[in-house]
Amino acid sequence: MRMYDIIMKKRNGGELSKEEIDFFIEGYTRGEIPDYQVSALMMAVYFRKMTEGETLALTLAMAHSGDMLDLSQIGGIKVDKHSTGGVGDKTSLALTPMVAACGIPVAKMSGRGLGHTGGTIDKLESFPGFTTALTTEQFIRNVNRIGIAIMGQTADLAPADKKLYALRDVTATVDDMSLIASSIMSKKLAAGADAIVLDVKTGSGAFMKEEGNARALAEEMVRLGNHAGRRTIAVISDMDQPLGFAVGNALEVEEAIETLRGNGPADFLELCMTLGSQMLIAGGKAADRSSALAKLQAVIENGSALDKLAEFVEAQGGDPKAVYDTGLLPKASVVHEIKSPVEGYISHIACDEVGICSLILGGGRETKESVIDLSVGIVLRKKVGDFVKEGETLAVIHANRQEKLEEAQRRYLSACTITSEKPEVRPFIKGIIA
Ligand code: URA
Repeated sequence: MRMYDIIMKKRNGGELSKEEIDFFIEGYTRGEIPDYQVSALMMAVYFRKMTEGETLALTLAMAHSGDMLDLSQIGGIKVDKHSTGGVGDKTSLALTPMVAACGIPVAKMSGRGLGHTGGTIDKLESFPGFTTALTTEQFIRNVNRIGIAIMGQTADLAPADKKLYALRDVTATVDDMSLIASSIMSKKLAAGADAIVLDVKTGSGAFMKEEGNARALAEEMVRLGNHAGRRTIAVISDMDQPLGFAVGNALEVEEAIETLRGNGPADFLELCMTLGSQMLIAGGKAADRSSALAKLQAVIENGSALDKLAEFVEAQGGDPKAVYDTGLLPKASVVHEIKSPVEGYISHIACDEVGICSLILGGGRETKESVIDLSVGIVLRKKVGDFVKEGETLAVIHANRQEKLEEAQRRYLSACTITSEKPEVRPFIKGIIA
């Protein structure tokens, strides 16, 4: 087999066989096929598209290009959750202790963030001492002992995807539906869970700006997961404005804790309950949606989800006292209120821009090497549909540097559209694909 022939076949609109896809992924992972040939193939895929069969073959080849995590030593149905990412997305911080408190074993691999705000691991590091550098043995032991563990993604998880994604990033071939779906699902399959619940975001702060594209991506990933023998469900949720109120690492941790105490923002709570109920059903802990919701409600009301978070933080070296006293989380030196220049309804908040405000303040990474300031960020006081008076607080900035604060304030004000007409507020959950 020759890579040249594979490129030509795809360039001419042909369908690649499983053997041809395995050949290119194995050769590329081993460093035997050069970047320039794989770039040409990716561009051919971009224009000619892949069939369902090709996409599944690519997903499986990438999943098997490195370690396939074996979670068989953990009892029960392991259910993983994945979000396509967005601004203020702290879902894993509240959702994983909620489902763990309901008896679902949580064995999760998470990543750090690049851009906007941090990833789940960055956020968790707001707990002094917390680490995700666990060996696979410690990871499995913790899940068996307390029901929950989160570790950093190992280099050997779907290494073909790692190489391919980096190449697509610099060759304008990221935004192809089959390539995105296979990239995400290859990592999820390698991470070993029996069932997968996906949170596919749509809107101005999401990868998929158009709802139709988010739905198509969700359907593709559900199909891939099910074909690979893992029960897969996708929830499509709104990311046209930040999730909840807090954007920034320690601020998001605080909001997740408040949610576990029963004081969560409505949209964030709705998302946790929707994803959580799907996880409980997939994990065999609830027969239907209403009994799943009742169980999730109970672990918030009786405090066991909050206690589970504290147990988890302690088991991974963090200070559990910070779960009960959020004053112990990192705090910024300056807290500044952004006042509304006019009166009216918030009709739009450019979600990406709010993420960039947090990045400017130091809450995200500009490059892989950047060090995150966990304490900074922005807390919204008004969301889309809310009425604001002139001079009333729109949002609160948490900063450590005055010049960054001013830049973030300017940017936040231009991200908000205030009108005299009340905007139509669309449903937060757009659909569930099972
Ligand atoms: N996230 C991924 O992991 N892969 C993609 O291709 C796009 C987003």
